[in-house]
Amino acid sequence: MSGNVPVLTIDGPSGAGKGTVSRALAKKLGWHFLDSGAIYRSLAVAVVQAGVDLHDIEAVVHVARSMDLQFDANDSPRILLNGQDITHRIQTEDCGNTASQIAGHGPVRAALLQKQRDFRREPGLVADGRDMGTVVFPDAPYKIFLTAGAEVRANRRYKQLKEKGADVTLDRLTKEIEERDRRDKERAEAPLMVPNSAIVVDSSNLTIDQVIARCLDVIGGR
Ligand code: DC
Repeated sequence: MSGNVPVLTIDGPSGAGKGTVSRALAKKLGWHFLDSGAIYRSLAVAVVQAGVDLHDIEAVVHVARSMDLQFDANDSPRILLNGQDITHRIQTEDCGNTASQIAGHGPVRAALLQKQRDFRREPGLVADGRDMGTVVFPDAPYKIFLTAGAEVRANRRYKQLKEKGADVTLDRLTKEIEERDRRDKERAEAPLMVPNSAIVVDSSNLTIDQVIARCLDVIGGR
């Protein structure tokens, strides 16, 4: 039964390092990996492609239910939306912001719930997101809330995007991150919050390796 499969949830705001840390942990543990943000981002692409108004909840839910999403998990994972490779497309700030907007609607979140729970398979799952420990896997035995100061997160994201050649300014990015944090925290449905019994890790002054070591402590050095 999937309920017996261990899950490590890693929730937190954007830019806290969840993606890098969760992927590394999944690899170390030999567990599956769920990037739930990628599901919301893929839906954002599908909605834009379908020409649907972001505020038309019924139409967005319809797109969420009918989209065919495939995660090609290997060393360079790919995401296919209805057979089309959208791996790079979902990485832009614009896509993250659109994802954050549609993620505010309860029926949209409900339509994506089972797709996320399906990732819970033997021998275990590392789940990265905003509501992994609160809503999607509330019974997870291991929960982490990974955070960092807004300025630190904006700087990290700026570096990442610049390395990819994106046209961004630190100032605009800081504002966008603050706006996205606010929206993700203040929404009525599954807001970003520290799950009950989660261990809070502040990565502001830690290296990735230190964060990984701290997370491994949480799950008892498995
Ligand atoms: O983690 P990310 O930046 O890829 O997520 C993009 C947006 O998707 C995020 O701002 C809010 C939404 N999201 C969510 O509401 N719930 C999740 N579990 C993951 C992401």
